[in-house]
Amino acid sequence: MTLADILPSLRSSLPAHLEPGAWPPAARWGGRGELLVAGAGLAALAEAHGTPLYVLDEAAVRERCRAYAAAFGAENVAYTGKALLTAGVAGWVAAEGLGLYAGSAGEIRVALAGGVDPSRIVLYGSAKTPEDLAVARAAGVGAIVVESLSEITRLAATAPAGQRVLLRLLAGPAEGEAFGLRVGTGEAATAVARIAGQPGLRLAGLDCSVGHEIERFQRYETELRRIAEFSAHIHRAHGAAVGWVDLGGGHTDHDFALEAFAGRMRAMMTLESERRGVPAPRLGVSPGRAVVGRAGVTVYRILSVTARRDGRLLVATDGGMTDCPAAQCADRHTAVLVGRASVAPPVPATVLGRHNDPGDFVVPRLELPADVHPGDLLAVAGTGAYHHARASNFHLVPHPALLAVSAGRARTLLRRESIDDLLAREC
Ligand SMILES: Cc1ncc(COP(=O)(O)O)c(C=O)c1O
Repeated sequence: MTLADILPSLRSSLPAHLEPGAWPPAARWGGRGELLVAGAGLAALAEAHGTPLYVLDEAAVRERCRAYAAAFGAENVAYTGKALLTAGVAGWVAAEGLGLYAGSAGEIRVALAGGVDPSRIVLYGSAKTPEDLAVARAAGVGAIVVESLSEITRLAATAPAGQRVLLRLLAGPAEGEAFGLRVGTGEAATAVARIAGQPGLRLAGLDCSVGHEIERFQRYETELRRIAEFSAHIHRAHGAAVGWVDLGGGHTDHDFALEAFAGRMRAMMTLESERRGVPAPRLGVSPGRAVVGRAGVTVYRILSVTARRDGRLLVATDGGMTDCPAAQCADRHTAVLVGRASVAPPVPATVLGRHNDPGDFVVPRLELPADVHPGDLLAVAGTGAYHHARASNFHLVPHPALLAVSAGRARTLLRRESIDDLLAREC
């Protein structure tokens, strides 16, 4: 219970409540409505760098890397770069001893630019292009994930001798349209036999992708049992133990009990392997969102405010679906005014973008001070994952800049894209 709950009259004179778990852990209010992330004021950053502006708390990202390393061992954790990848972020991940799951030639090259050891890069993807494979080969990536039968011969032809591969398993019954090798149809067993028949490839382990934003361990437990069963099949059929299992990512960026998860998965893997008389593999994970999601904040300038007849305010910002893709924003309700203190009572509001599109929400439902007006700055929490990474140039709107903040200072990781950048592609 907060002071404002006990004394409602205080509510409007206190800075907006920062929802626990939503903001970077070190976010706190400074004076005059300034919101500090890692000691850097968001309104001051917006004035200096323009809006929309992505701000990423370096310590928050590194702390998540360390938490994963402590739970699983750094050598067993690979950050999934598709959540957000710049050379700077790759550098933090590498400095914390993690590897990196890359889904394209671009992600491999940015990871290398950030200093990731190529032997710690895993290339995955249901449809790897010739460029992906060529860049992986030139870099000497540590492993490549096989996700279909048809790519095995292609990989054998293009990969360097001794290339380690992981098999993406689809172990469950509800496999849908997902890519990977189905266990139930015998496809996965065929893949193992085909890889064994390719002298240039070495089966290093198995991986799986359970889903997204999962809060419960049960989904992983079911998957783990199926993987253990399939590992035993490999042992029986080929006399080889599976040395490495990656359980993918998909953890929420809040309330996911990492230590408990790691302990439970390890204990289960040991038990399930013993039961089947096979050695337990080392257990890895490849989280994306859970590493960067909560570390990111986006700052917008409010450009218009319209009161609906029912009292709800429609607040339009200078960003929107181009920097905040619809799927990431549908359930969001966490944003606060920054840069000025308001004593106006909270009223229901909907924050929209600038794109005149039905999916152009930034925050569908929240409360903002009744005196919110054009020119105000709005900070939106939890935008580290899949925001910049999925940003588009719809309406030919350039991408925002991405700043890293640490110990009160800001550093530009990615400069703001300009319209000249867009025009530079015209031929
Ligand atoms: C190979 C791989 N690892 C991990 C993930 C999980 O990503 P996140 O943890 O961001 O949900 C995905 C997501 O699709 C993936 O494809």
